[in-house]
Amino acid sequence: MNAAIKRRTFLAASALLAASTRFPALAASKGAVSQEHDRRVRDLIAQMSLPEKLGQMTQLAGGRQKALNSRIDDAALDRVRQGRVGSYLHVAGAEPLARLQRVAVEESRLGIPLLFAMDVVHGYRTIMPVPLGMAASFDPDIARRAARVAAVEASVSGLHWTFAPMIDIARDARWGRVVEGAGEDPYLGSRMAEAQILGFQTDDLANPDALLACAKHFGAYGAGEGGRDYDRADISDETLHEVYLPPFQAAIAAGAGSFMTAFNELNGVPTTGNAELVRSLLREQWGYQGLVVSDWNAILELVAHGAASDPVEAAALALRAGVDMDMTSETYANHLEQALAADKTLLPLVDEAVSRILHAKARLGLFDDPFRFGDAEREKLVLGSPEHRAVAREAATRSIVLLRNEGNVLPLRSDARIALIGALADDASSTIGSWRARGQMEESITLRAALEARNITYAPGVSPRDPDTSNIAAAVDAADNADIVLLVIGEDFDHSGEARSRSDIGLPGAQQQLVEAIRATEKPIVAILMNGRPLALEEVLDGIPAVLETWFLGNESGPAIADVLFGKASPAGRLPMGMPRNTGQVPQYYAHPPTGRPANPDLSKDSARYHDTEIGPLFPFGHGLSYAQFDYSDLSVVPQGNGRSLAWTISATITNTSARDADEVVQLYIRAPVAGLARPVKELRGFARAAIPSGDARRVTFTLEPEHFAIWRDGWQILPGSVEVMIGASSEDIRLRGRLDNPEARAVDAGETAGAARVTTVTVA
Ligand code: NOJ
Repeated sequence: MNAAIKRRTFLAASALLAASTRFPALAASKGAVSQEHDRRVRDLIAQMSLPEKLGQMTQLAGGRQKALNSRIDDAALDRVRQGRVGSYLHVAGAEPLARLQRVAVEESRLGIPLLFAMDVVHGYRTIMPVPLGMAASFDPDIARRAARVAAVEASVSGLHWTFAPMIDIARDARWGRVVEGAGEDPYLGSRMAEAQILGFQTDDLANPDALLACAKHFGAYGAGEGGRDYDRADISDETLHEVYLPPFQAAIAAGAGSFMTAFNELNGVPTTGNAELVRSLLREQWGYQGLVVSDWNAILELVAHGAASDPVEAAALALRAGVDMDMTSETYANHLEQALAADKTLLPLVDEAVSRILHAKARLGLFDDPFRFGDAEREKLVLGSPEHRAVAREAATRSIVLLRNEGNVLPLRSDARIALIGALADDASSTIGSWRARGQMEESITLRAALEARNITYAPGVSPRDPDTSNIAAAVDAADNADIVLLVIGEDFDHSGEARSRSDIGLPGAQQQLVEAIRATEKPIVAILMNGRPLALEEVLDGIPAVLETWFLGNESGPAIADVLFGKASPAGRLPMGMPRNTGQVPQYYAHPPTGRPANPDLSKDSARYHDTEIGPLFPFGHGLSYAQFDYSDLSVVPQGNGRSLAWTISATITNTSARDADEVVQLYIRAPVAGLARPVKELRGFARAAIPSGDARRVTFTLEPEHFAIWRDGWQILPGSVEVMIGASSEDIRLRGRLDNPEARAVDAGETAGAARVTTVTVA
């Protein structure tokens, strides 16, 4: 890269980091192809042998997640020289990747550059909050800026492609992967999906620090039965289209350059071999033109699913479904040739797949300059830079949720004598979560470290995994000698994540005993939760006056929590997934239809509830308190335009009646018309995180179109009728209610987004 390009790269990165809260306009969406790229790709395909084509369709592991590049040996380099690999994952580093790329470009017959990939999920070196935490910010712009930092760092380290964002909706907190997504709601999930895609890719993949994003795991991976990872999803078409698919449609609208298919099966068909879902819906109906990669080994696993009798059949099934690249199973490389010999109709599908892979490389500019991505000098300056840490600090602070604050225990007095209790308070490894890319726990500031200069006594008590209770006595001593206890409890980073489903989402290990011992001291307690999933903590939190949800917040975890504890920042995060009272309540979500016998507090009535627990979650979706108070008033619902341009503006005034400046997350819910169908009691269709100074007011206006309350019945339908609109501070704290009347009955136009995927315009004035 020459000096001018380097300078441009740096300026582009800084400008994007400093960008205003508005998203950049979208240049190329749907993975559109330029004519010049097209010519180049066709030329190449015309020259390629079948093994070279299958090579392009093969992605290999260049190392392991925790030992990057470790598999790049002489045999691997030989394979690159023969053109029998198109992409590597689990590789990184400007210098090693430049060396590897040089072999592909200079020593293989056609000189096609390799595509280097990694799971850069919530940061590369500078680690941001885990995605579930980031979603709690209800602030797509900070999610975009965090992804931008990750892309700047990863691209300077030679990477082209990240397997992120993970945009699977999850309504069962037993599933370990809820930590990687944006929670239970498809509208919030859609906004977080597009924000991250824009952050990773910018508005043009040709920008030198753009990272190809990957919307994953396409299908209904989040609907796995019982919350078990990899397990089947058995859901209706309505639920698929209204709940699980909207973030994927939003991802296409945001220009996502790649998609990954889910491991699991949907209604009996494994997604990796599901032509109806991938080829028909994603490509033909939605018009997505980008690259589709399988998940790890998933093509070969079609045999284990019982969908293919052997690897040859598996290869044919995945190719027919529309999967272009085989992640690690080498089924295309080793078995597709045999499938092609038996069935010539597969041949054009190979060329299509190769074409999409080469187009992705072309869009990234790799044919113009295969080495444009890595820069060993800048790598040293950019990774973990102070500017990046500042974004991480902001993201962490904005992700914290104040769940309870009885008697205004928080914020703390600065001279309070504090007992800081719980091993998680000093667990730097957990701060960086499970997808840590090249994050280093030594670069994380724990809560203990952040509070060091204060009047604190630290006692680990117990750790989440350790049955040892011998340190509880010392923790009780510390509590006895303090004015207030900060009790840090939850899960460690490895309790959630891939293949980390749990049948009991209560507090793990001996932490319950610690909580009971500390509660017995009768000191005021602030419970600080750290976890990658909503935990079921009704009993644990009983009698505890203040509760903060802090997820795994990344490198700036400690300082961000300290800022909230001492009132330097007012918390404004909101739960992206409700917290159940106990495990038996899950799956649970706010957007549920009411049933004919809605849950009744009176146990003598037969209703849709459990007899042995209270109704509803402990803390609902969208819940989060503030140190300020806000008043909601003056709802107006005003129709605009008519016919196809019919819309409504729904406005409310939010006044900060407290003595401190703070953010409020204003939420708009709808209930679609009564039209012979049971519709959810509420569905989120807009939100705004508004900064409102003390004593000041803001008018928040949402614009809804008929497509926003369309429902799926064999296609998106707009039904006529009265739609209830609700504005509030959480899904269970509705402050204002109104109605709008929609006269229109029609199908949604082809190419339009509907339901939760559709962006609601929001203004804050
Ligand atoms: C399997 C995971 O399901 C997927 O999310 C990830 O991108 C790949 N492994 C690669 O690490």
